[in-house]
Amino acid sequence: MAAAVSTRISSLTEGRGLVFGCDYNPEQWDRSVWPEDVRLMQEAGIGLVAINIFGWSSINPAKGVWDFAALDEIIGLLHEGGIRVNLGTGTASPAPWLTARHPEILPVGEDGTVFHPGGRQAYCPSSPVFRAYAAELVTRVADRYGDHPAVALWHVSNELGCHNALCYCDASAEAFRGWLRARYADIDALNRAWGTTFWSQRYGAFDEVRPPAQALSLRNPGQVLDFQRFSSDEQLALYRAEAEILRARSDRPVTTNFMVTAHIRNLDYWTWASDMDLIANDHYLDRRLDDARGELSFAADLTRGLAGGAPWLLMETSTGAVNWQPYNLAKAPGELRRNVVAHIARGADGICFFQWRASTQGAEKYHSALLPHAGEDSAQWRESVELGGILDRLGELAGTEVVADAALLFSWESWWAAEGEGRPSEGLEYLQQVHAAHAALADAGITADVVRPGGALDRYRLLIVPALHLISDADAAAIARAVENGATAVITFFSGIVDEEDRVRTGGYPGAFRELLGIRSEEFAPLLPGQTVALTDGTTASTWSERLTTTGAEIVASYVDGPAAGGPAITRRRHGGGEAWYLASQPSRDDYRRLIADIAASADVAPQPGAGRDVEIVRRAGESGSYLFIINHGVSDIEITATGRDLVTGAPTTGTVPAGAVRIIKEDA
Ligand code: GAL
Repeated sequence: MAAAVSTRISSLTEGRGLVFGCDYNPEQWDRSVWPEDVRLMQEAGIGLVAINIFGWSSINPAKGVWDFAALDEIIGLLHEGGIRVNLGTGTASPAPWLTARHPEILPVGEDGTVFHPGGRQAYCPSSPVFRAYAAELVTRVADRYGDHPAVALWHVSNELGCHNALCYCDASAEAFRGWLRARYADIDALNRAWGTTFWSQRYGAFDEVRPPAQALSLRNPGQVLDFQRFSSDEQLALYRAEAEILRARSDRPVTTNFMVTAHIRNLDYWTWASDMDLIANDHYLDRRLDDARGELSFAADLTRGLAGGAPWLLMETSTGAVNWQPYNLAKAPGELRRNVVAHIARGADGICFFQWRASTQGAEKYHSALLPHAGEDSAQWRESVELGGILDRLGELAGTEVVADAALLFSWESWWAAEGEGRPSEGLEYLQQVHAAHAALADAGITADVVRPGGALDRYRLLIVPALHLISDADAAAIARAVENGATAVITFFSGIVDEEDRVRTGGYPGAFRELLGIRSEEFAPLLPGQTVALTDGTTASTWSERLTTTGAEIVASYVDGPAAGGPAITRRRHGGGEAWYLASQPSRDDYRRLIADIAASADVAPQPGAGRDVEIVRRAGESGSYLFIINHGVSDIEITATGRDLVTGAPTTGTVPAGAVRIIKEDA
């Protein structure tokens, strides 16, 4: 359990079942609309409302001018209506007067482009000027509302680092040098860590170092990796500065909304999680992916991992289409419910939507909302109300935790290192490898926790380690120890190659796992897009191959053709009480499922009966009982064997889950 996850999500709106909430931007509406908003929120069962997220220019319209009248009024109205507030500190986007007065706070891209105001988040995270003004704003807001009975939660900024994670301006350069001084103390240590003798990059002093802005050729990977680490730390520092101000003035829990999602990779949330009083995530279906729903499941599992297994809050999601993808698809009938239930199945104790009422102006006017442009007389609104009722009826499962015997190891640092410039193949995308492994587990009916390398592994019988390129010796040793103690580990290609300084381990790949796996790989032989290789077990694989020999492992399958023809492609080695498997290529989705199912069976990890590619089945359990979530994403009805009470209808379960339907069953003891 992450030490600092100290707030039960359900305590935010005690007595109302699971949390049902939304972002609300009353400043976009005339005051006359507000009472109606509160009435409709009550009708839908909304218990928690995020406000003041983008409130800076409303409450602080000019330097030194403060106007809290509207915010006072709306907090008062919500309070009278019995609705609790998730209060934004308001720092998410600087007011225009600030950037006009201090253009030096604007962020700069890697090619030197200055990003102008007019959108949002137009500030350099390291800017001392921005930080000073933000601190003043947070102080004013906390002083005013820190004890207000309506305030249930502090919402620091908004999606920190969503747009401005990487800034290359002079203030960032100065802060980067400070971060490097603290990490390396002397410049020779930095030179060693970055391997700067290469291409005459040796530094004589910290003052010579700059962020890795656009260069003529490939950049120094150590510098790029440290800049990623620094940039994540700078965003965390913004959070910490605000949290400190809030905690000195208010006893309410503090958090910020993470972006555990496929298109954001600049924040290492493993290093953030313990600063949060509860873990909150924003998640939208990403229709640009082949398997948007699979990504949702992975993101939810990873969010739970950040919460150390404890329940977490879905701080933002959408009822229907978003407006920031090339094709913003409406949800199919029942899809909203399936999405919401998937988040809850995987540990969410609350679901909040962006946003309450669809805007009529501004960049997000075509984004869906709980209350659409069409108004109350709409299917979307009726669905919102219905959803509120369902969340209400699921209240008793709050606080229960997801049951999982398997773990998938995930690392943002490794993501950064694996996808650096000059890698063996552009076809090797870290997240794709992680998603493929997660999908193989899910397709095989196995629920996995997502854990950090170095996290506690002892409770898992099965460990999946996809493409974990960068790993420390200590974290690799922990995996070997888990295997010795009886776990089965499946390690896939490109894992264990470099250490924390991005330095390749020599003597044969994969250095960190060579002994554990009983193999020695001499050369990578990546495949072209669309190219496949046949394996001797009758399967086909893609993306990667390599030339390896075994030094103690048993060969499970070899390459029939391709650049490593005749050599091992899948190996297995007994080690202590467990087994270590190596996959040197990317199995097709079905082959991956079969392989994981077989390995899980031999590791004594039982699948959920009936679960598969179209049927998601996950169990949560705790003091109040055991709850089985069944989500039928398919087009045929299914029969399940569980017995118990359907938590939504209250009736005994019939065993049938129609196509597209969900069931949440309180299992008979
Ligand atoms: C999030 C953001 C919200 C809203 C939403 C739209 O990234 O926090 O303010 O923009 O996306 O999907």
